[in-house]
Amino acid sequence: MNRNEGLPHPLFAQRMERLSVPATIAMAQRARELRAKGEKVLSLALGEPDFATPPAVIEAAHRAALDGQTKYPPVDGTPALKAAIARKFARENALDYAPGEIMVSNGGKQVIFNAFMATVQPGDEVVIPRPYWVSYPLIVEMFGGTPVYADCHEADDFRLRPAALEAAITSRTKWLVLNFPNNPTGGTMGEADLAAVAEVLRRHPHVHVLSDEIYEHLLYDGQRHASLAAVAPDLKGRILTLNGVSKAYAMTGWRVGYVGGPTPLIRAMTAIQGSATSGICTISQAAAAAALDGPPDIIAQMCAVYARRREMVVSTLRAIPGLTCAMPHGAFYAYPGIAGCIGRRTAEGRMLNTDEDFAIALLAEQHVAVVHGSAFGQGPYLRLSYATSDDILTECCTRLARFVDGLS
Ligand SMILES: Cc1ncc(COP(=O)(O)O)c(C=O)c1O
Repeated sequence: MNRNEGLPHPLFAQRMERLSVPATIAMAQRARELRAKGEKVLSLALGEPDFATPPAVIEAAHRAALDGQTKYPPVDGTPALKAAIARKFARENALDYAPGEIMVSNGGKQVIFNAFMATVQPGDEVVIPRPYWVSYPLIVEMFGGTPVYADCHEADDFRLRPAALEAAITSRTKWLVLNFPNNPTGGTMGEADLAAVAEVLRRHPHVHVLSDEIYEHLLYDGQRHASLAAVAPDLKGRILTLNGVSKAYAMTGWRVGYVGGPTPLIRAMTAIQGSATSGICTISQAAAAAALDGPPDIIAQMCAVYARRREMVVSTLRAIPGLTCAMPHGAFYAYPGIAGCIGRRTAEGRMLNTDEDFAIALLAEQHVAVVHGSAFGQGPYLRLSYATSDDILTECCTRLARFVDGLS
């Protein structure tokens, strides 16, 4: 679906033809339409913490506003936030980034946008492990680049294997995107997994890496997060380490993301951001600094709740005949396989030929919104977010089990 559908074509730049509406948004739109008809729709479709932003963070924002931090900021971020980010990278990731190697953006998403706008042009390839977060290929394509996919499998807990990476790299590869803990699968990569990826990268010195570590704090089973740039310090000069406060601190609406990387790339990205937005909301930056410097137990408390919900969701899914579910070791998504349901018919007579059919029928018949795996490049799966209340989760799981039970 093109955004320019129904509008006079000559107005639009060619790049608009490459800009499609993500299936995640399309599914949210269907759910909204049902709600508008008065139906009680429950959603596991959203990748957003259900917690409130910590009060101390909100107070820091309030103070910043009263203190007069209300003028244009430096384009690459306030010195106070950049210093907090440098401390965070050193403390949590064993990464040393100087102020000139750090920039703040309007969410992690703008980091990706800036990086690819600065570097990707027609003919360039970007290797993206599949399943993937939908925005990576969309942004690559917007700048005329070509996404090349490296498949990750349920049997490997959706980790990127070195052979799959090696096979995807060509002389035209500009970037590899790494996103672990992963959206949509919840897959993680430990130090040994990253070391194997680094080994491949050493054979291909023209490949840069965007390491999106935005879910780094949402880890279970006693795992510790490893950053690629710390595991392979010799590659640090070609790695962008992306992070943000959206997921870890329940701050999606504040729109603060950040990145550490080589100065020339940071400079180019800052130049783009200067023309696009002139920098990030000063109040949000003060809030983000308070979050990063705040007590770490806030994250641990949220993580403990996610861990409990994960157990509940995965054990329920595994008990449903026809479904499989790899244990997600990070983030807040489960990615159950539904191959056993394909080719069957729902209680209301809908034929399930694809995972999208499944998601549409589940919404229509049980009023539960989920996103189909093929929207993330690999079906037949579903992505369920467990960043929602226990009550909603329990009810969704009951309805999902009832839906599958009704298949013939
Ligand atoms: C993998 C991944 N990276 C980055 C982001 C961007 O988050 P934000 O722009 O809120 O920082 C998201 C948000 O859903 C995500 O899932």
